[in-house]
Amino acid sequence: MKITDAVLLEIKDSVALITIENPPVNALSHNVRFGVKKAIELVMADESVSSIVIYCSGRTFCAGADIKEFGAPMQEPVHSQLHDLMDSVNKPIIAGIHGTALGGGLELALSCHYRVAISTAKLGLPEVQLGILPGAGGTQRLPRLVGPKKALDMVVSGMPIGAKEALDYGLIDKLVDSDLLAAVMLFAREKGVSNNDHIRVRDRDEKLRLVEQSIFSDARKVISRRARGFTAPEYNIRCIEAAVHKPFDEGISIESDLVMELMKGDQARAQQYFFFAERQASKIEGLSKGTKHRPIFKVGVIGGGLMGGGISMNMANVNIPVTMIETSEKALEQGLKTIRNNYESTASKGRISFDIAKQRYELIKGSLDLGDLNDCDLIIEAVFEEMSVKKDIFSRLDSILKQDAILASNTSALNLNEIASATTRPQSVIGLHFFSPANVMKLLEVVRGEKTSDDVIATCMSFAKRINKVPVLVGVCPGFVGNRILHYRQIQANQLALEGVPIEQIDRVLYEFGFPMGPFQMGDLAGLDLGWKADSSNSSDIRDRLCELGRFGQKSGNGFYDYEGRMPIHSDIVSEVIKDCGRLQGIERRDSSDNEILDRCLLPMINEGAKILEEGIASRASDIDVVYVYGYGWPRYRGGPMHYANCLGLKKVIAKLQHYRENTGDDFWTPCQFLVDLADSQSLFT
Ligand code: CAA
Repeated sequence: MKITDAVLLEIKDSVALITIENPPVNALSHNVRFGVKKAIELVMADESVSSIVIYCSGRTFCAGADIKEFGAPMQEPVHSQLHDLMDSVNKPIIAGIHGTALGGGLELALSCHYRVAISTAKLGLPEVQLGILPGAGGTQRLPRLVGPKKALDMVVSGMPIGAKEALDYGLIDKLVDSDLLAAVMLFAREKGVSNNDHIRVRDRDEKLRLVEQSIFSDARKVISRRARGFTAPEYNIRCIEAAVHKPFDEGISIESDLVMELMKGDQARAQQYFFFAERQASKIEGLSKGTKHRPIFKVGVIGGGLMGGGISMNMANVNIPVTMIETSEKALEQGLKTIRNNYESTASKGRISFDIAKQRYELIKGSLDLGDLNDCDLIIEAVFEEMSVKKDIFSRLDSILKQDAILASNTSALNLNEIASATTRPQSVIGLHFFSPANVMKLLEVVRGEKTSDDVIATCMSFAKRINKVPVLVGVCPGFVGNRILHYRQIQANQLALEGVPIEQIDRVLYEFGFPMGPFQMGDLAGLDLGWKADSSNSSDIRDRLCELGRFGQKSGNGFYDYEGRMPIHSDIVSEVIKDCGRLQGIERRDSSDNEILDRCLLPMINEGAKILEEGIASRASDIDVVYVYGYGWPRYRGGPMHYANCLGLKKVIAKLQHYRENTGDDFWTPCQFLVDLADSQSLFT
């Protein structure tokens, strides 16, 4: 029987089977909640029914509340009304779980008396990643099954666990390897006729009594390191504390108050916006769904330095063989050694086994001969940023590579169209801009040249996901999206320093905003000598002067800061250099407030982001935000620069830009026309 367009009810041999059909991920939209509640009400009093199964069709169990419904008042029945009803049913209810049971989906399963899962299933409460907490009883029921310590781990990290682990912790009652539906129906039939008491999860308090109080202070220590600035993790901890210290109903009431408070906050709004921004980024407008992908079985990487090595590891990590090219035996040996050390260090930290480390390492073969790339499907060039060198490599590759091979450059700033012009197949040339360290950073700027063909773009966007990257498609311009915008922040950070603002203050303000580090510490980490040439060094430029002193950043032990290990320490030498550069440039010294520092660093990023949209270099404002969160540590709870601008209000952004324009007389601050037009039409960045 169809209860709603998303819920079916069938009675099979005394078992009521409620099937949710709400593709793609069976989110608990209104028609699902309504349908499940109605179906349960129908069978509660039916004496021919002895047990109830909740099952989902399609690729997964419920992936949680329907996030698209957030922001508007939730239509009844709300999740808790459905769960209260389930708690009142005197027949066993069993969830059959495959795919992912996440958030409200797992909470639905927690309100069942039993859970049967297939061995590939994953179960988790990821709400913290959306800036909220599991507000449908999850924080109260989960610790009753898995114990408060494991529950804390799960809600604070938001990471799901596998079905086997779930069984070990008591989160599920039975694990099956195949035919879940048949197994869960059989399980339900047995429970339906057994004389056992079917204890509700809310009544199972035994694991709550075995708690060491230090778990809460330990969890707080962890979030102060790993989730600095985020509000939701602390609220999740408070809910688990309530589960331990308060009766169930009081815990539920605390959970409900705290989730309402989080829901109203800016962080939840930003994190939920970002959930969709990230998914939107992989969609390419104007590309037909039927665009064929080129097969990629083997990858070539040219350059075995830090970048080339990191790129190669991405492939090996997902079992793709790599040929890595270097120009000398010594460089090749060094490159391979670094990769091996990286894998061994990961294995010694217990993150992968030594066997897997070895398997991955062995997938990377070194060579000194470009000719060895003749069987590769994708070649990624990662040599130093010199146009003539890149063009030479690309023209040589032309005669070596297979006809349908994709030629990618990892350039971070050079003109991809010019690189492509060195080949007879510019349609097969694309930019794949990895971020350092390439085996760690998630962002991949996929740079579309003016002749890059659709199938190459489509292949690279999906290949990026295969190697666990978050791809964003961008157009050709100096620095593409990320570095181009960063350049404008750096101009102001330098200007502030030249005016006499201590670099420590500038770094602190940006750190407190939520970046992992400020611009000067970031410069030291990246290396100040990148692109620096001694013969054209300028004595009034801070960075050039530091390089002249051999202060190249962390790698040389000093840069903008001195270093004790990785700890930055103030340097009087640097203060003097900056003062001298300011004097040589005729810059008047003045103090700046923290607010001014923040405005002067962030507003130019927003203005440049608007220009990038105006020029079509990025197709959506949310793509710029994805670049910034994944590539540059913009705090996710602030959504990204364009979302931040929307929250400030575009008129306010323009007013601030104009304020600095008037104060300085510098065109740098002129608001871009696109931004002005958006504000005039009361629109927002989209
Ligand atoms: N609500 C609405 N839409 C959702 C959704 C949700 N909970 N979860 C996924 N979707 C949508 C995605 O936006 C995407 O839509 P488009 O195809 O239009 O882009 C589609 O479903 C497929 O999602 P993915 O591209 O992410 O597919 P995947 O296979 O890579 O991953 C997934 C599937 C693991 C379920 C992943 O989508 C995911 O993690 N979803 C979010 C899970 C989550 O956070 N749940 C908690 C929700 S909050 C909650 O439940 C509160 C509560 O207490 C009641």
